[in-house]
Amino acid sequence: MTTAAARRRGEVEILRSPLRNLGIGMIAGPGTPVPARTIDVRLLELAAGERTSTHRHTHDSVLVVLEGEGCSTIGGRRVRWSTGDALHTPAWSWHFHEIEAGRSHALLLGFSNAPLLRALRLNWVQDAGMVERREEHAAMPAGRRDDPSAYGRELLAANAGPVGAGRAPVHTASGDLELRPGPGGARTALLVDSALGYETSGLALEMIELPPDHVLPRRRDVGESCIHVVSGNGHSVIDGTRHDWSAGDTLLVGHLAWHEHGNDDQRSPAVVLRAHQGGSILDIMGCLMDPAPAHGTGG
Ligand SMILES: [Fe+2]
Repeated sequence: MTTAAARRRGEVEILRSPLRNLGIGMIAGPGTPVPARTIDVRLLELAAGERTSTHRHTHDSVLVVLEGEGCSTIGGRRVRWSTGDALHTPAWSWHFHEIEAGRSHALLLGFSNAPLLRALRLNWVQDAGMVERREEHAAMPAGRRDDPSAYGRELLAANAGPVGAGRAPVHTASGDLELRPGPGGARTALLVDSALGYETSGLALEMIELPPDHVLPRRRDVGESCIHVVSGNGHSVIDGTRHDWSAGDTLLVGHLAWHEHGNDDQRSPAVVLRAHQGGSILDIMGCLMDPAPAHGTGG
């Protein structure tokens, strides 16, 4: 099992998808140089005046806008976004993204738990093409209140509302982010997390700001996490291997891999994004019962 890997943005090749109608560059995930097994990371590139196909998938996808502005229709809700914002496309919600004509292109960073869903044989993707609107669960029966059986109740509950069209947020504006003191001297802000009301299957995204010339305490965590460097220069030591990083780089921190992250700049903070699956099926599987300490000097 690979527990540590890193990749520079310049090494990522963006290939055009005529079906999805955008450019996709795989950064991390199975089959890439950063072989995370439960999370993947990709670059999505849209040109001005362009929109993606309308599609849905059983995995969660969390997007961060690296450059540009545009809008997305997610589960029937339309949200505008710009650089620094985060989006969530909930599992099985129809969605598409678009850039108005006359704007500059947009570059988004996407994290998903598709590899985890694939491992469970539960990763399904449907693409409706370039249609404007697609009814959620169009082909599914709504359930009947005159069926009092367990199955009747189950069917009603499962179809209580379109996925992604409820009250759960699907967008965090960068202007609403508030960095707060976090562990080890860092400042952190949640972008997509159940604590903010998001309904994901466990995928979460946070921003971490490392103070200048500062190394966060050595630790290890249950489950994989993928780190993407937004700004700054620093290094990480993961399972005993040092990786020097700068803006645009992506790192994998494996399950229970001892690691530390440090900002090597004497004057400026470094900002990274961290995606993880901490509150997901890993809970259900009892992995969090592992007695291994999160802090210490082991490894
Ligand atoms: Fe999607």
